[in-house]
Amino acid sequence: MKIRTGTLSQLKQRGMKFSCLTSYDALTAGIFDQAGIEVLLVGDSAGNVVLGYDTTVPVTLDQMLHFGRAVKEATSNALVVVDMPFGSYEVSTEQALASAIRIMKETGADAVKLEGSRAEAVKRIVDAGIPVMGHLGFTPQSVNQLSGFKVQGRGDSAAALLEDAKGLEAAGAFALVLEMIPAKLAAEISQELQIPTIGIGAGVGCDGQILVWTDFAGLSDRSPKFAKKYLDLRVQLSEAAAAYIEDVRTESFPGEEHSFN
Ligand code: KIV
Repeated sequence: MKIRTGTLSQLKQRGMKFSCLTSYDALTAGIFDQAGIEVLLVGDSAGNVVLGYDTTVPVTLDQMLHFGRAVKEATSNALVVVDMPFGSYEVSTEQALASAIRIMKETGADAVKLEGSRAEAVKRIVDAGIPVMGHLGFTPQSVNQLSGFKVQGRGDSAAALLEDAKGLEAAGAFALVLEMIPAKLAAEISQELQIPTIGIGAGVGCDGQILVWTDFAGLSDRSPKFAKKYLDLRVQLSEAAAAYIEDVRTESFPGEEHSFN
């Protein structure tokens, strides 16, 4: 069954949690889609995990179009959301709308996501008929302003975060990612909002959860505290590479079955 933005709000109303993973390529998108993951986010975390950058700041709109198209091509059911990269929506609401239109036209995505308390940009894009997912708490594109990877919304800033969340809902966002905020605050925001929240390092009180797929699969060498490893793919791949090297050296590969007469 095709997941739509409305499906996520129905799941919230019924108290049913949903799962999201990032994906940047057709291969993993097809696997996660067939496994039943409800939302595939083509995150600009591609900058870190695929392109090897230290932050998501250098990621360009053209790069996101490339990743978005690949994921969409391999996905039948999951809702595909493409991140708007840094620099593609902050200048004006016109710029935000133009970037969102390019993403929708050139990738075939179902929705876009942008970071921060940008209700005007969200409203402008939503008014054009494009679903927008918000993203509050730790927003990686602002890592320089936030002085590093730090938990947000502690102490006095909690009330402002709740107000920002309400502002994005009022502007028409269909869902909201909450990243690295205290679990209690995330649960409160999830209860106050009608739209679903999606947590990453935000506790169990959110309506859905998201993980960067390379953290979930144990492929990264520096996973954050909040990520659970469901596989140890880094170790498995490294062992497989060592076995392959040995087979080639000892002429155990290729065998008869891999050769042509
Ligand atoms: O880019 C990304 O992967 C994200 C998730 C961390 C939510 O925005």
